[in-house]
Amino acid sequence: MKYKSVIVTRRGSPEVLEIIENDLRLPLAGEARIKILATGVCQDDIAARIGNRPFPPKIPFVPGYTILGVVDQIGESITDFAVGDRVAALTTLGGYAEYIFLGEEDLVHVPTTLDPAEAVILILNYLVAYQVLHRSVQVKAGDRVLIIGASGGVGTAFLQLGKLANLTMYGIASRSKHSVLTELGVIPIDYHTQDFVEVIRQAEPDGLDFVFNGMGDDYIGRGLKVLRRGGTLVQYGAPQSFSRFLLLLVKFALFNLLPNGKAVKGYGTHRVDRRLLMEDWAKLFKLLEEGKIKPIITKKFPILEAAKANELLESGKVIGNIVLLAPELL
Ligand SMILES: NC(=O)c1ccc[n+]([C@@H]2O[C@H](COP(=O)([O-])OP(=O)(O)OC[C@H]3O[C@@H](n4cnc5c(N)ncnc54)[C@H](OP(=O)(O)O)[C@@H]3O)[C@@H](O)[C@H]2O)c1
Repeated sequence: MKYKSVIVTRRGSPEVLEIIENDLRLPLAGEARIKILATGVCQDDIAARIGNRPFPPKIPFVPGYTILGVVDQIGESITDFAVGDRVAALTTLGGYAEYIFLGEEDLVHVPTTLDPAEAVILILNYLVAYQVLHRSVQVKAGDRVLIIGASGGVGTAFLQLGKLANLTMYGIASRSKHSVLTELGVIPIDYHTQDFVEVIRQAEPDGLDFVFNGMGDDYIGRGLKVLRRGGTLVQYGAPQSFSRFLLLLVKFALFNLLPNGKAVKGYGTHRVDRRLLMEDWAKLFKLLEEGKIKPIITKKFPILEAAKANELLESGKVIGNIVLLAPELL
């Protein structure tokens, strides 16, 4: 039997994504073979393809940062998972495919009651927002925060989790996307036409408790200006090259040396202990099950139409998320 994947064989625009076919082998010892039901599409997939990250993957590779699927075969020594189990994983690569092979240490059980398209979004976008809010810092009801990049996949997760935590939120997004912010009680700021430092200084003369930046390091200096003494900025937006990564480290060191009582922190999923990932995914699955969160999904594509999904995300027109699905779920 054969299976198909979407592969990057050269850097460039979404047209470089090609469909290839491979033999569907049996899993090796310690591996589970998973039939993919859903894969999230995110900025980091695009960055991996274009190569604008400090450590881009070597070509050729199959993009796809997160998967949700069903265990289809297990290799020897798999103890915690069985054929038919619903699972998910933060794969970083490999999700744009009909099947994937993963070790059981990479997998998390997912309740079958959850919609695969919604649940897969929790694995990265809600995880990032949840961990920044509750692990990088510990927000409490009434805290005043700014979310930079509020209308995208991670941004809208911040909005919903921030509302649950009873935060007062300001969000930076293009005007055409403001309705998603105002519906959640977030005060929108259009970065194309407004200076967010001015707007926030007028509205919050004492400054904000936290700034969460999903965009570039050029926001850090301005973000610090709207923080109160004792406030913290968390940078979770990834740097676009190795030199920007070094610059970011220098900025962190310099800004934290300034005697202004303000702190800058970085967040990255690759630095998170596995135990905390499992704990937080379990909390997020429960929130989804209880209807307390609901990922915004703008469009669903068949997995093998990943190129179209990438093109749409790159157009900048998406609010929330795009998901790739197995054809039987569409
Ligand atoms: N640290 C981690 O572990 C981690 C994990 C996942 C994602 N990330 C990072 O999180 C960021 C967001 O990822 P995503 O997948 O959520 O992306 P996304 O869905 O494409 O959303 C990005 C949003 O940024 C907005 N935007 C673009 N340029 C902007 C600017 N100059 N100022 C303010 N907003 C701007 C866009 O909306 P508008 O039309 O409103 O501008 C867009 O909705 C990326 O930098 C990604 O690398 C980090």
